[in-house]
Amino acid sequence: MIKAVRGTRDLLPPETALWNFVESAVRDVFRAYNFQEIRTPIFESTELFARGVGEETDIVAKEMYTWEDPQQRYVQMRESYIEASNALNEGRTPKLVPLNLLAGTQSLTLRPENTAGIVRAYIEHKLGDRGLNKLYCIGPMFRRERPQKGRYRQFYQIDAEVIGPPSAGSDSPARDAELLEMLATLLDRLGIANWNLELNSVGCPNDRAAFNDALRKALDPVKDKMCSDCRRRAVTNPLRVFDCKVPADQPIIETLPRISQFLDEPCRKHFDAVQQILRAVGVEFQINDRLVRGLDYYTRTAFEFTHGALGAQNAILGGGRYDGLSEALGGPPAPGIGFAIGEDRLVMSLQESASAAGALRTPHVYVAPLGTGMNAEAAILARELRRHDLVVDLGDENFRLKKSFETATKSGAKYILIVGENEVKAEAFALKNLATGEQVSVPRAELARKIQG
Ligand code: HAM
Repeated sequence: MIKAVRGTRDLLPPETALWNFVESAVRDVFRAYNFQEIRTPIFESTELFARGVGEETDIVAKEMYTWEDPQQRYVQMRESYIEASNALNEGRTPKLVPLNLLAGTQSLTLRPENTAGIVRAYIEHKLGDRGLNKLYCIGPMFRRERPQKGRYRQFYQIDAEVIGPPSAGSDSPARDAELLEMLATLLDRLGIANWNLELNSVGCPNDRAAFNDALRKALDPVKDKMCSDCRRRAVTNPLRVFDCKVPADQPIIETLPRISQFLDEPCRKHFDAVQQILRAVGVEFQINDRLVRGLDYYTRTAFEFTHGALGAQNAILGGGRYDGLSEALGGPPAPGIGFAIGEDRLVMSLQESASAAGALRTPHVYVAPLGTGMNAEAAILARELRRHDLVVDLGDENFRLKKSFETATKSGAKYILIVGENEVKAEAFALKNLATGEQVSVPRAELARKIQG
């Protein structure tokens, strides 16, 4: 038997109803904050993630699904060939094609996250000039991680980004607070209780230089006792040492200086302002000065929402500000802040929420044709009922009554409606409540109302 690949999974009903419930709540809440949807490709050039997320991050160094795409070489060779034969036909001298172009393949990567992709699209389509600065995207991401509960190789993110020219106020602490307040509203709306917002500031390049120096100094005498990743990072990108999960390294990491000791005046003010607005709007948070997030693009505000019931992979979502990312990708200054919700984990925490129960819809009625020629009559009736927004499941005239009852019960329908020759003639149908066993004869015109009631 061929099975789904390890780390990927099929999302099956009835759980898919929860996914739809989440996505429809997300769209409603995001609309109230004037976010608009963007859909970007599932694969991008590898360079985008290397430059955006950072070469030394776990995501880029270990977890990406990357391949050399031969298609590109084929396209380039074909174009060169067409150009050369056109030139020969027209009596021109064909252009010399550089050897590296003929040999060139393009390195492509399945997106491990989508902030870099959205910022790329923002730059490419000059979205800032069009005032499109609140964007969201829902879709699959891919990371080659060790699968476990709440951690998959194909997982889904709900990603939202606020990005724009500084003149649009996109660097303001008001944006950070608005985004965090929106998240609190969304989680409340979904009925998810007991979430915890952890907040930190990771400063800006100014602070980072001094912090990295201090980290290098602190790590120098101890790095040889640490894992091989930390030994390397202690030299190349010391901030990433905080991402280490190796238990033996934790006591050393615990003694390292914290970024909070290095924030410059503007960063400190920004962080204070975010906290002040959050207190004013009543969003609770905890400062966690060890939170640096595993991606290199972050500046200033960084945050995670955790949920106790999720076990080891307890981050439902994470995000932060990335004020230099657009420039790093060759774009104009466009400060931004965003987050990505792990939709798999959100749905897991939702399974206990009462508000989600309504999402698990079963049919209102199972229409059971009884006897030869009744399929068409049943189809007419089902069509009428569905036009009244009822969820209708339809049987088959070849089923005996017993089988119709069994199928109706399995489908979870509330009622079974019998469509036999006598019922059609009388324009009144036997409607049985499958839970209580009560059966009544209902005139055709009153069926929808009776079932809805
Ligand atoms: P991230 O923290 O790497 O951030 O991922 C965000 C969320 O995606 C995590 O909190 C988690 O819920 C979920 N997630 C990550 N990896 C997995 C996995 N293997 N299986 C299941 N869920 C997972 C980012 O991706 C940033 N792009 C967020 C962001 C947007 N920052 C600014 N804008």
